[in-house]
Amino acid sequence: MSKIILTGDRPTGKLHIGHLVGSLRERVRMQNEDSYDEFYVMIADSQALTDNYDNINKVRDNILEVALDYLAVGLDPKKVTMFIQSEVSELTEFTYYYLNLVTLARLERNPTVKDEIKQKNFDKGIPMGFLCYPVSQSADITAFNANIVPVGEDQLPMLEQTREIVRSFNNTYKTDILVEPQGVVPKDKSCSRLVGIDGKAKMSKSLGNTIYLSDEADVVHQKVHEMYTDPTHIKVSDPGKVEGNVAFEYLNAFCKPEHFKKYLPEYTSLDELKNHYRRGGLGDVKVKNFLYQVLEEVLSPIRERRKEYAQNKDKVMQILFDGSDKARKVASKNLEKLKDAMGINYRKKSLLK
Ligand code: TRP
Repeated sequence: MSKIILTGDRPTGKLHIGHLVGSLRERVRMQNEDSYDEFYVMIADSQALTDNYDNINKVRDNILEVALDYLAVGLDPKKVTMFIQSEVSELTEFTYYYLNLVTLARLERNPTVKDEIKQKNFDKGIPMGFLCYPVSQSADITAFNANIVPVGEDQLPMLEQTREIVRSFNNTYKTDILVEPQGVVPKDKSCSRLVGIDGKAKMSKSLGNTIYLSDEADVVHQKVHEMYTDPTHIKVSDPGKVEGNVAFEYLNAFCKPEHFKKYLPEYTSLDELKNHYRRGGLGDVKVKNFLYQVLEEVLSPIRERRKEYAQNKDKVMQILFDGSDKARKVASKNLEKLKDAMGINYRKKSLLK
């Protein structure tokens, strides 16, 4: 079976280091493994509109920002088709047919959507577009026959929904054209839900607790030094807690053994550093300075590449338009197959008897 990868992000803000460890790193790794047939990365502007329909400029402005972040982390447009969701209007048609296969009760049970509804406090009630976005996400995936979907853990309910739609479609229309996709989440637990610098919740642009891929070095430095650690670790000599301590959570996600040789040679491993912190005698500033150096090793090449692309925004837009043209051709062919399977093909299979 061919291996078709598809994933994407809503353009509602710049991407941050939570995205980097939660999904972007994995995408670049897959891209460089070269063991796939097609690889699509979609900027999900239509999905972003489901809760920003009255704030189109936010979505418009962030399309280019997200594209710059993709290119900056090393996604290569020669290998990966980057496209804009609304440019592929076939996706809305897929969605419309899939909506028949999903009940209201099923959509209301989706745990990610439930969480988001709580967070967003829709004052005029829940927009149908928002409630139904998991169905549109199923369209995004199946329109390209994608069978591998690298995502963060919070997206797994969308994959479950997609598999249900696939089964229901194939059953209803006695066909096997749709394939059930698999989600791929980061294996390393420390990467799947990177906590915000305030230690309170998942890193998220709406909570303002993020480190962006585009942050300058001095901003990263400041954010690292503001980071929540262990409030009971007051004097250097006090014993400290590593669990729930943001500096250590980030070291779990970013630090490699070679970083010690380079930046903190008196320790050989993260475990050793943690043990010292637990015992007492290791100050936050030392840990944070080390973390800053580790983060900078990762972020400075990304930042530089982002700046280069930002000087050629026309070129970046062309990458997105070329990708969208290519994606549209594929989705259009697959839509025709979908409609054939349903019998909505009156020009091919005549209504006249
Ligand atoms: N829901 C995803 C997010 O919020 C974005 C997305 C839209 C997506 N369509 C997709 C992800 C299809 C994977 C596959 O980040």
